[in-house]
Amino acid sequence: MNQNRLPSGDSTNRRSFVLKGAALGVGAVAAGTLSSGLAFAAGTDSTGPTQGDIAILRFLAALEILEADLWQQYNELGGIQDSEVPGGTGSPGYTAAIQILDSDMAQYIHDNTEDEVSHFTFLNAYLASKGAQPVSLKRFRTLQGSQATGAKKNQKRLTNLMQLTVDTSFWTRYRSRTQNPDPPFNNTFPPAIPGLLNGQFPAIPRTDDDLKGFVPGNPPTIPDHLQAIANTAGFHFAFIEQGGTSLYPQLAQRVTSPEVLRILLSIGPTETMHFQTWQDKAGNAPALTDPTNGLKFPDLNSKPLGGEDFQTNLIMPEPTVFLNPGLPAVSIVRPTETRGAAMAAVKALTDDGLFRGQSPDFFAVLSQLAMAADAAVRGG
Ligand SMILES: [Fe+2]
Ligand SMILES: [Fe+2]
Repeated sequence: MNQNRLPSGDSTNRRSFVLKGAALGVGAVAAGTLSSGLAFAAGTDSTGPTQGDIAILRFLAALEILEADLWQQYNELGGIQDSEVPGGTGSPGYTAAIQILDSDMAQYIHDNTEDEVSHFTFLNAYLASKGAQPVSLKRFRTLQGSQATGAKKNQKRLTNLMQLTVDTSFWTRYRSRTQNPDPPFNNTFPPAIPGLLNGQFPAIPRTDDDLKGFVPGNPPTIPDHLQAIANTAGFHFAFIEQGGTSLYPQLAQRVTSPEVLRILLSIGPTETMHFQTWQDKAGNAPALTDPTNGLKFPDLNSKPLGGEDFQTNLIMPEPTVFLNPGLPAVSIVRPTETRGAAMAAVKALTDDGLFRGQSPDFFAVLSQLAMAADAAVRGG
């Protein structure tokens, strides 16, 4: 039997997914989404995508739609406004605060947004070209976004950027020379900015009130509250893109078709380029305390922190343990464990607060797409 064809146990697989979904409280919506994914009929082309490949591509398409939605919100307020990434009119105060991290931030935000739009657009078009169902999350576009001047105020959003709980442990994870989050090591890492884990913080101005006290000029006057919002964004950019940096290699290990593998190996490293850039810029976030909520951004280069695990310019992955403690340390992306990677990504983004306010149906559909991706088997 051609291993690249849909297995004859298709209906069994579908039933088991739906049962798993039911155990999670997943209703008819998720079952409908799933059946549309599995409606894909494999051709006779032995190099074509397998059912597992399609599941991986559909999950990635969903995440890229979500990424594009969040980046679009950043771009409307803090990016370059042009026809390549239309939507907003920009917020001079927020843009100025973000530019404290680097004068090119507006360009980078614009380009990261354009990249994410290209990612989901390509993945969906590729799915359609193979007779598979593209992913749409349109019906979940229900969240109210920023009402600050510059944002497209009436546009409903998929993601929330105004109550985030950002995990900055990626910072120390990539700087550690002795630890690895993956088995057999299973290490955990302290966050660079512990305060961002203890509350819900805006990464964009919610209304013009968040811009109070800003005075344009050279240099501009940027109140600490506004700078804290920009700092939060700076670390959140890196958090999002380190996730993509891991997710593509994690899922690539279970892809079967060489062409689908090529897609993952071609998009994944662009996430890494984003991460590398953002990690460098986040290191320029000024140390301060937000007077409105106590959120503290410490100086990562001096005591009591300091040391290599926090040093801001160590933006290239420090060599660390990998696979087996007996092997020499190596500079690597981390984590890259493939088991459960899609669900882990959903959990990380949920914990981030990105989906705060979303409906149970949204979580059901996203979990279903993730479970299908995690069930994909290389060569299966
Ligand atoms: Fe992406
Ligand atoms: Fe990305």
